[in-house]
Amino acid sequence: MNGIRAFGATPSDVALDPFDEGTSNYSKAKDNSPIAHLQHRIDRGEVKLRHDDQFGYLLSLLEELGVSTHSQLLVYSKTSLQRERITPKTPRALYFNDEVYLGFIPGAPFIEVSGMDPKLGGVFYSIDQGKTGRPRFVRTDQCLECHTSTKTLGVSGPLVRSFVTDADGVVDMASGISLVNHRTPLSERWGGWYVTGTHGAQTHRGNLSGREAFARHEKEPNYLGNQMDLKRFFDVSRYPAAASDIVALMTLEHQAHMQNFLTRLNQDSTAALRQFGHLNHMKSEIEGFLKYLLFTEEAPLSAPIQGSAAFVRQFEALGFKDTKGRSLRQFDLERRLFKYPCSYLIYSDAFDALPEQLKETLYRRLWDILTSRDTGPAFAGIPSETKQAIREILTETKKDIRSYWKQKD
Ligand code: HEC
Repeated sequence: MNGIRAFGATPSDVALDPFDEGTSNYSKAKDNSPIAHLQHRIDRGEVKLRHDDQFGYLLSLLEELGVSTHSQLLVYSKTSLQRERITPKTPRALYFNDEVYLGFIPGAPFIEVSGMDPKLGGVFYSIDQGKTGRPRFVRTDQCLECHTSTKTLGVSGPLVRSFVTDADGVVDMASGISLVNHRTPLSERWGGWYVTGTHGAQTHRGNLSGREAFARHEKEPNYLGNQMDLKRFFDVSRYPAAASDIVALMTLEHQAHMQNFLTRLNQDSTAALRQFGHLNHMKSEIEGFLKYLLFTEEAPLSAPIQGSAAFVRQFEALGFKDTKGRSLRQFDLERRLFKYPCSYLIYSDAFDALPEQLKETLYRRLWDILTSRDTGPAFAGIPSETKQAIREILTETKKDIRSYWKQKD
């Protein structure tokens, strides 16, 4: 990610077989996530985490890992290893940036953490909330029971779901979407999540728990939609921030699937190159990846989305800007999520760590698509001025962009 590049993996760091050959390699592989990096800094005495009575190590961790409290999301469906503590009155708070996720429940014994390794995908840890001189992240492969499944494309990584819950947050397994991403219609999203921000007449399942609430929502759509404030639901003073921001949620949903896709692609292409020496069998996976990267099947917005200005500001500020001031992190929020719909994770260590031969193919295909040499139906819906803008931004800001991108056509 931006700013933490020095920490990128070198090819010899992890020699790993594809994940579905068993988890043992994953467990043994040393990870190169920002969490491992922070642990080294703690061990060397360069960082001392601060503990406070209300939040334990949370605020200090967020600060050291460069995660903003404006990214806070609140989820009350009972999932995670600490499920018995999660209810609509005590939701779990999640915080994230491009490569780290944290889960905090007031009063819970540990904070759940995951960090992205450019090749392994998500690496999962817990950190004890009790005050100690030497806080330690403990790698917990038990987390993979849920965090590695078909819903994460078979790799270890983040999960986003949307389920109807009862009044206590217990999930109705018959009711949900277990892989939410930017393609999921808004009307199906956010079951089990609090949502702050406005979205016009578009409906969603957020802020609802219990049969009565869902029944009333049927008759009176959005009666708990367009909420600016969550005080009516629970005691927000137990959390570092008051919001569960709609724009942050939509960002997370794009990002989580993108990251799993990158991990999957890395593992499949590494295996294909080892076995066959070429990527010919991966055509449809590569095209699928490009479609997701370029948001071709994104659920359209029928009304503007407005969330916290603070989240937007801090997220956009991290963008690599071209000479016209444009970046892939700029939001649109009128018709779609981003103004220039090409994932900002193209700048991630995970993208950079893809095998060279695969990157060669991806850049070539992207060039064809963004110059409209590609005339197939999959990318025909992207307006040509949008393609041009994305191409110009990438040409100026993506560090390993190929030289043919720079030629004038
Ligand atoms: C019982 C299934 C389950 C287990 C076990 C589990 N998680 Fe999760 N976790 C989830 C689900 C589902 C989500 C998505 C948010 C939600 O619906 O609660 C999630 C979300 C998260 C997130 C936020 C980023 C994301 O993936 O959306 C973190 C961080 C996280 N979990 C860490 C952990 C850690 C660390 C462990 C092990 C100590 C763990 N989880 C064990 C189900 C689980």
